[in-house]
Amino acid sequence: MNFQHEKRDITVKALRPFGTSIFSDMTALANVHGAINLSQGFPDFDGPEVIRKKAAEAIIRGPNQYAPSMGIPQFREAIARKMMRFYGLEVDPDSEVTVTAGATEGLCATLLGILEPGDEIILLEPWFDSYPPIAALAGAHIRYVSLQVPDFTLPRQALADAFNDKTKAILINSPQNPCGKVFTREELAFIADLCVKHDAYVIGDEVYEYLVYDGREHVTLLSLPELRERAFVISSTAKTFSMTGWKQGWVVAAPNLTRAVRMSHQFIVFCGQSPLQEAMAFALDFPDSHYIQFLTDYTRRKKRLCEALMDMGFKVFVPEGTYYVMVDIRSIGFDDDLDFCRLLPEKAGVAAIPASYFWNKRSQGRNLVRFCFCKKEETLDEAIRRLKRWLK
Ligand SMILES: Cc1ncc(COP(=O)(O)O)c(C=O)c1O
Repeated sequence: MNFQHEKRDITVKALRPFGTSIFSDMTALANVHGAINLSQGFPDFDGPEVIRKKAAEAIIRGPNQYAPSMGIPQFREAIARKMMRFYGLEVDPDSEVTVTAGATEGLCATLLGILEPGDEIILLEPWFDSYPPIAALAGAHIRYVSLQVPDFTLPRQALADAFNDKTKAILINSPQNPCGKVFTREELAFIADLCVKHDAYVIGDEVYEYLVYDGREHVTLLSLPELRERAFVISSTAKTFSMTGWKQGWVVAAPNLTRAVRMSHQFIVFCGQSPLQEAMAFALDFPDSHYIQFLTDYTRRKKRLCEALMDMGFKVFVPEGTYYVMVDIRSIGFDDDLDFCRLLPEKAGVAAIPASYFWNKRSQGRNLVRFCFCKKEETLDEAIRRLKRWLK
């Protein structure tokens, strides 16, 4: 066949600047070199077998037809119960909960549902990589505000200056991937005041809500009274139940906000997979011991990797939450994150993510690299051994 137009890029202009996700690139490089993949954030173990059995039973029993677009009632009810159990929040499962294809589609449905071309959205750098492309697809203008290294402090004046009468929303990721910041209630109250003052909405990506270390508290945006009717809270089961491949997420928001999410959600995927929703409805009701064990296991992994990286001479930004740790590579004599991450799989047999991809101006994160620690402890030990061997 003669593809006369094969050189023509027909991708919409909004998406062209973004290229392929750095996660796919680094995972592919890890596979080529048989490296331990500490780049993309997925576990090398599966979540509890009882959840998988529930899903298998539901698939065999059926029905295996379209779920209601907003999600099956059991799952929406379990999400509402969880909001009461962990945050003391009363949420109506019928008018305030929408089940989405992971947090990713929840973000997409929310942003496409509320942003008009010309609206502005504020993103805090370093961000999770899907935020700018989705905002760009919606035709929104993005205002970037950088958290201040080394503590990833909220730059209050710069943030206040970024708000204006075109600001439709701000997106907050807490705990924040990749830097591990957990926003305090006081910081969120500062943001809430700006939203009220400028009549803006706030979108909260809270997928790491159960991974908050050292006695800190995860504050969901919906728990701030000023934000109860202004916040879209997005989360998913990917991280909490170690099943990133299932893509079971949700958006919780006041009824009129939920209407906007459902309007776009119905035309993106229409609905999620009902057997998996059934299984995750069961999982969300797990006793406290699951959530405690989950945090205990990750606290141990965090300590093991952070201490080892410090031993190797890296300057380590110990995370307050999430399952990632950022390091400054200048401390071991490198200065370009991309060069370092391209070298690492081949030379050390480990893969990581160049963190400058999480800033709009890549010069800002150029000396930083992100490792994930959502791996079996023996995998982490082997990665540590390999890194040590290479650095010697
Ligand atoms: C901050 C953040 N949001 C969203 C996602 C995607 O969540 P899901 O797999 O539920 O779509 C991730 C996955 O790494 C993430 O780190």
